[in-house]
Amino acid sequence: LIYSFPGVSLSDQVHQTPADMYKNPNETATLRCLHTISSYNRFLWYKQSQGGQLQLLGYMVGDSPTPEANVPVIIDGNANANQNCTLTIEKLQQDSSAVYFCAASLHSVIYGCLSAQKPHHHI
Ligand SMILES: *[C@@H]1O[C@H](CO)[C@@H](O)[C@H](O)[C@H]1NC(C)=O
Ligand SMILES: *[C@@H]1O[C@H](CO)[C@@H](O)[C@H](O)[C@H]1NC(C)=O
Repeated sequence: LIYSFPGVSLSDQVHQTPADMYKNPNETATLRCLHTISSYNRFLWYKQSQGGQLQLLGYMVGDSPTPEANVPVIIDGNANANQNCTLTIEKLQQDSSAVYFCAASLHSVIYGCLSAQKPHHHI
C-alpha cells in the first residue's frame, strides 16, 4: 500500500497522483507530481516509512534526475511548471509500503549549497 501526498506548503499548486495505490510484491508503482509555480524547477521525492522517518529518495532539476545512491527508484520527466515528474519503484517489496511525498522548490543556482539544502526542510 502506497500513499502519496503533495508538499505541505503551496499544496494547491502541487498535484500528486494517485492518492493511494495497492500493489502486489514485485509489481511496479509509478507516482506522478506536477506543480504550477512558474519560477520553480525542482522536485524532491521523499519516503516516510512506518517509523515516521523521512528518507530523501532523490530529486529532479529541470529534466535532470539525481536519485540518491543505493535507492532503487527511477525519477523521470521534468520538474518545470506544468510538467510531469514521475517516481517509479520497480519490484515492490514489503518495505515499499509507505507514504511518499513530493516537494516542489526553486533550485539554487549556487550548486555548492545544494547538499546543505537537500534534507527535510522543504517539506
Ligand atoms: C518476486 O520475484 C522474485 C525474483 O524473481 C521471486 O523469487 C519471488 O518469488 C517473487 N515474489 C512474489 C511474491 O511473486
Ligand atoms: C501529465 O500526466 C497526465 C496524466 O497522465 C496527463 O494527462 C498530462 O497530459 C501530462 N502533462 C504533460 C505536460 O505531459
